[in-house]
Order: sequence, then C-alpha cells, then structure tokens
Amino acid sequence: MKVLVLGGAGYIGSHICKALTLIGHQSVVIDNLSTGHREAVKWSQFVETDILDSAKLISILQHAGPFDLIMHFCAKSLVGESVQNPALYYRNNVSGTLNLLDAMVATGHDKLVFSSTAAVFGMPAQTLIDEQHSRLPINPYGQSKKMIEDVLGDYHHAYGIRSVALRYFNACGADPEGEIGERHDPETHLIPNILKSVIADKASALKVFGDNYPTPDGTCIRDYIHVNDLASAHILAGEYLQQHDGAFAFNLGNGNGFSVLEVIEAAKQVVQQNIAYTIEPPRAGDPSVLVANSTMARETLEWQPKFTEIESIIATAWTWHQNEKF
Ligand code: UFG
Repeated sequence: MKVLVLGGAGYIGSHICKALTLIGHQSVVIDNLSTGHREAVKWSQFVETDILDSAKLISILQHAGPFDLIMHFCAKSLVGESVQNPALYYRNNVSGTLNLLDAMVATGHDKLVFSSTAAVFGMPAQTLIDEQHSRLPINPYGQSKKMIEDVLGDYHHAYGIRSVALRYFNACGADPEGEIGERHDPETHLIPNILKSVIADKASALKVFGDNYPTPDGTCIRDYIHVNDLASAHILAGEYLQQHDGAFAFNLGNGNGFSVLEVIEAAKQVVQQNIAYTIEPPRAGDPSVLVANSTMARETLEWQPKFTEIESIIATAWTWHQNEKF
C-alpha cells in the first residue's frame, strides 16, 4: 500500500511509519512539526505543511498520490489545554479534519484511519468500556474527536468515504529497538514522567495526582496499551477498509487496568531503583477508572496486542528515555 500519514512526525504516527515500512508499505508524512520531530521521520518521504492549508493538502493528494489509505494523527491532544483554549482544539482537530476530508473527496481518495480517543466517552458508566458505551465527552478535546466521529458517518453516507476511528486508551511505550519514542514538551503522561524522575539530568519531581479516588489504592486506574500494538491495529484497520465499506469505530486497549501506584511499582522493577513521589491534589477532569473492552477489534480486525505485561511496556519506554535520540 501507499499510505499518507498526517502527523507522522509525532509519537504514534512515527511508530506507525516504521511498522508500515517493516511490512513493505510505502509512506508519505505530512506534519507541521508543532509537536512532532523531524528526526522521527526516518522511513517516509516528508512534506512540512499544516492540515489547515487546504490548497496544499489537495496538491499533495494530487501530486504525491494516489494513496491506497490515509491515516490521520494531526491533532492537539492535551485535555487540560483543551479546556483553557478550546478554539485551538476545534480549529485544529475539527476544521483541520474537515479540510482533509474535503480534500479527499475532491481528489477521489476514500479510505481513512482516524485517530480517536477514550476521551469521547467522558465519565465511564461501567468498568469495561465497549463501543456501545454512551459518548458524552467532558472536555473540548474529547468533544472535538466525537464531532469528527459523527462527521465520518455523514461523509460515508453522502460521499462514500470509508473510515475506521480507533479510540486509544493510554498509549505508551516506545520502539523496542530504541530508534523512536515518546517526546512531548511539556510532558504530561504518567509513564514518561515516572521514568524521567529517575534520570539524573532530566530529574523532575514525580507527582501523583489524587489518592482519594474510589479505587482499591485511591489512585486512578488506566488501560496502558503499547504504541506498537496501536500500530498493528492501524494496519489491520487499513486492510479492513480495502474489503469493507462503512464508517467503523473500535476501542483499543489491553483490557487490564493499573492504578498510578501500580504503574510506579512496576517501574521500580524495571529501573531497579526507588522512585520517590508526592501526592498532589487531583487533576481536573480525570475519571477514576478507564479500561477498554477491545473484543470488537480483536474479533473483527483479528487484532492481537503483543505487549500485555505492564513491565514489558515500561521497559521499552525506559530504553528510549535513557538514550533519547531527539
Ligand atoms: N498522572 C500522575 N502524574 C503524572 C501524570 C499523570 O499522577 O505526572 C496520573 C493522571 O492523573 C491519571 C493517570 O496518571 O490518573 C494517567 O495520566 P496520563 O496523563 O498518562 O493519561 P490520561 O489518562 O490523562 O490521558 C489519556 C490520553 C488522553 C486521553 C485520555 C482519555 O493521553 O489523550 O487518556 O481520558 F484524552
């Protein structure tokens, strides 16, 4: 396949480009490098542009294509920032994706894998979240992704755009070969923050946000899914779209929840040293438990996550953070 990867210089997009290359697919990356890294584009042709530039998007689709598949990771994705600056989220995530969809319609491209999120569900009504769970986002980030999920249904009906929306739970880990990894600035995610707290020249105090949630140890429970397992799901979704016509959505997680303190404990085993932390007030908008029921992705896409142990996931991130190449 020839695949256009929007946001391929970012954390998840870059891992997908490597996975595509390893099985013989060709990729072209579009990224504005606002949060991505040029150094992370190692396996693809690169075009620096912004998803808000419609004319350039159309030109790339016309001249670098045709593409068998489009994967879309260009998005703002910090919940707290989305509450402070919703305009940024609606402009990038909603207007940007509409630009892409219209460019696809204009140039005859009809297959999209869209990066969605567990944040579309809002406060969970049950412990294991499946695709039937109500989508009631509680922040503009989740709302922006839900809006596009709805648009995808309408664009399928009216223009024949086939799509799969993949709702990630907690993406984490890094390329086991250490070539690429997670690098956000500022870093807000738990696993990188734990690991950075024990690397001498990056040392920043680790904070645990809240210990009074209704969970066994009082800290939030999340479903941590390795970025390479997300990559394999995207490739399977792309293959699925070659055969199936529709606008589909799947939840992607391991199906096991770990509390913040359990993740810290597992990280201690990986780094073989003590990890100090302080308990801080809860972060706004954090649901107590978010765990995926991914049965539908496993059965329909035949997706089989390989990184099922939290320690093995943390170990790949640890390899990356000790020797970050960019
Ligand atoms: N946490 C800490 N200390 C930190 C960082 C995080 O205690 O330094 C806690 C958080 O409060 C939360 C858990 O660790 O309880 C996980 O936090 P992350 O920031 O790693 O991940 P989130 O669950 O907040 O966010 C993820 C995705 C979002 C998505 C969200 C869905 O990164 O894009 O799930 O709710 F929106």
